[in-house]
Amino acid sequence: MMIRMEILFCTSEAYPLVKTGGLGDVSGSLPQAISALGNDVRLVLPAYPAALEQAGGLETVASLTLEGSAEAVNILKGQFPGSDVVLYLVDAPVMFRRAGNPYVQDDGSDWPDNAARFALFNRAIVALATGQVDAGWRPQVVHCNDWQTGLVPALLSQLPARPATLFTVHNLSYQGLFPGSTLSTLGLPSALWTMDGVEFHGQLSFLKGGIAFADRITTVSPTYAREICTPAFGCGLEGLLQYRADRLSGILNGMDCNVWDPQNDPHIEKHYTVHTLQYKAVNKAALQREMGLPQDAQAMLIGHIGRLVEQKGVDLILEMLGDLFPHPVQMAVLGSGDEKLERRLVSAAGRYPGQLAVQIGYDEALAHRIEAGSDCFLMPSRYEPCGLNQLYSLRYGTVPIVHRTGGLADTVTDLNDKSARDYTATGFVFETDTPEAILNACLRALAYFQSARVNWWKLVITGMKRDFCWTASAAQYVDVYRALCQHQSQAQAPQALRASQAG
Ligand code: ADP
Ligand code: GLC
Repeated sequence: MMIRMEILFCTSEAYPLVKTGGLGDVSGSLPQAISALGNDVRLVLPAYPAALEQAGGLETVASLTLEGSAEAVNILKGQFPGSDVVLYLVDAPVMFRRAGNPYVQDDGSDWPDNAARFALFNRAIVALATGQVDAGWRPQVVHCNDWQTGLVPALLSQLPARPATLFTVHNLSYQGLFPGSTLSTLGLPSALWTMDGVEFHGQLSFLKGGIAFADRITTVSPTYAREICTPAFGCGLEGLLQYRADRLSGILNGMDCNVWDPQNDPHIEKHYTVHTLQYKAVNKAALQREMGLPQDAQAMLIGHIGRLVEQKGVDLILEMLGDLFPHPVQMAVLGSGDEKLERRLVSAAGRYPGQLAVQIGYDEALAHRIEAGSDCFLMPSRYEPCGLNQLYSLRYGTVPIVHRTGGLADTVTDLNDKSARDYTATGFVFETDTPEAILNACLRALAYFQSARVNWWKLVITGMKRDFCWTASAAQYVDVYRALCQHQSQAQAPQALRASQAG
């Protein structure tokens, strides 16, 4: 029998309300998939201006007095757009009603009061999680995501009766680290300040609060779950993660198959399916036109989209362009982030006119057109907890070329003699994060692209038929929730008994 569970999904971004990267995509779609499996999932977000504008029909359900805020914090309730998921917005105008990026100022530096902003968000979540907000609604499981919600499991751990907690690590290298003195400035319980608590080499770590105190920990792919237990990927937290390994597992991200669907995508030139793949060429020509590249069907067009940060390996791409562009290859790059990388990309585009087109900025619609119009999609990430663009690429018949790490390793099957023969290949996977390895993989892809077309289309179609929509992964989250609920009810039964005997 399916038992309906109450889940509070806590996140600092959710598409289409607010998105800076993959966390936004996941938070905008996973709660709906969990709800579709018969659960009461409610999503809580800070009330950023963009969220307030887009979420209609909001009503105030509570006005809270919380430590860390001179003004009352209102909890607004509405509906997540296009879904039956209840949305709560934590409205603390001084903290969250700021235009622009949720985490950084226009010059790219962090908002100086991020510790106070997200600590307040976390306290509001604790109030919601303990039934103090919405006519006593109490979740059985509180599902936190990344450092911005890391203090929630820590704060809840201090309470005698509390819901179960799950903490999902989307990216271990963003830790929410602040000076040690922040603990007292924020008025956090001193009991949390231990080596196996929120203290990290003398600093306060929000992320560690999640990892140390949550009842269960997940990451967004099985390979990344193993990688983060090693010094190379553990960001100094590998010891704690090894210690908690029996509570840690990887659940691969799914994708929103309504938003990313070449058959219905409102952003692309011409819709297509596995049966009308000839129209992919129309999207390629349109993308070449849009990005100022020659409309050459024979040139292999490689796409790349991403945050311009060290993780994504754009610097490695830049280093191999001189050896790539003597070949009939074009590249279309969309990204924003590190200013130095932005400048290097723009200057490379000047050196390779007609072969490298670069668009600096954040452009959701262009991202869809690059996925639809490219022949291949390059992701040379140094590490990648899951990665979503390779999933979108597979669905759009755009062959991924990826570094064997994290979720990239778990989702792309390299083309070799065996996988070509048994039709399981979906892309090109390389072993090391070096310019040479990236170049070789691109040239391997080019040779295949130029060989018999029927082979190329087979590779494309195999990828398009892989199913990375949420259903399977959402079911795995539900299994984790169910195990947590069972464990919690067993743990709390004796507590309740003791309390009733004492009373
Ligand atoms: P990460 O979360 O590390 O940034 P993911 O691959 O999980 O990486 O998700 C990135 C998401 O952000 C994808 O939906 C991608 O298309 C989108 N994205 C990243 N940079 C841009 C950009 N400059 N313009 C539009 N979309 C972008
Ligand atoms: C992070 C990771 C990315 C992952 C995304 C969503 O930002 O860098 O690999 O896909 O979160 O989980």
